[in-house]
Amino acid sequence: MTTDQQSARPDRPIATEFFRNIPDLDWEDITGVHRVAAPVLAQIAGNRELMRELVLGARQDEQLWPKCEEGVVEDKIVLWDDPDRGYRLRLRMSTGHQEEMPHQHRFSFSNLVLRGTYLHRNYQVDGTFGEGTTVEDVHTLCVHEDIAGHCFTIHHDAVHSTPLPTLGTINLVLRGPAVKDVAPVLFVEGRGGKASSGSRFEEPETAERGHVFYRVGEKDESQERRSERRMSEAGYQDWVRRLEDWDLIGKGETR
Ligand SMILES: [Fe+2]
Repeated sequence: MTTDQQSARPDRPIATEFFRNIPDLDWEDITGVHRVAAPVLAQIAGNRELMRELVLGARQDEQLWPKCEEGVVEDKIVLWDDPDRGYRLRLRMSTGHQEEMPHQHRFSFSNLVLRGTYLHRNYQVDGTFGEGTTVEDVHTLCVHEDIAGHCFTIHHDAVHSTPLPTLGTINLVLRGPAVKDVAPVLFVEGRGGKASSGSRFEEPETAERGHVFYRVGEKDESQERRSERRMSEAGYQDWVRRLEDWDLIGKGETR
């Protein structure tokens, strides 16, 4: 299959045409990525018909649907994936209060806030950020209130946190390729007790202050973990209804 065939999805003509026309992205050039990605994300968010096509298309797509997840504190719907051109588009959707958790990512990305607000922190870390890092090693350098319409682009080496405070805080994320296998996360606030998972490679449902775990890619998750995290049909339909009610996607006759 050629690149053109892979990126053309006849059931999503608006999206196929839109993504065909976006410029290439060099993910090591964060300023350059932001210059391209910020208007691209704004155009996607501002086109309710395209947003609807993407959200409904994800459910029918055999590549994207298995990547849609219900996480511990947020869900995601993967809207578009073009590994040949080095990007993936997804919605990040809060399901409840999140603790402050300084973390890195396995990839660089651009993030447009569609709904809600949260405090975005950037940190300096003493030593190498990871399993040996303590709460005292992490120092807040910048606090920024991100609100709907704001867009940031961040390098995978940055340590930051974006704890979403309430259900329905929604972000549209354009991410680059993964450049590492794992990315550390530190709880600087506890989450209701001792760590509920014995594995360092799973996000625990409860955790004590100072607990470190690593986010891993889908390919490194166990089958059991993958099936636990897969988005349910009911969960997906709830999100479609909410996204319609909040006017983030167009309303149609059918779902
Ligand atoms: Fe993050």
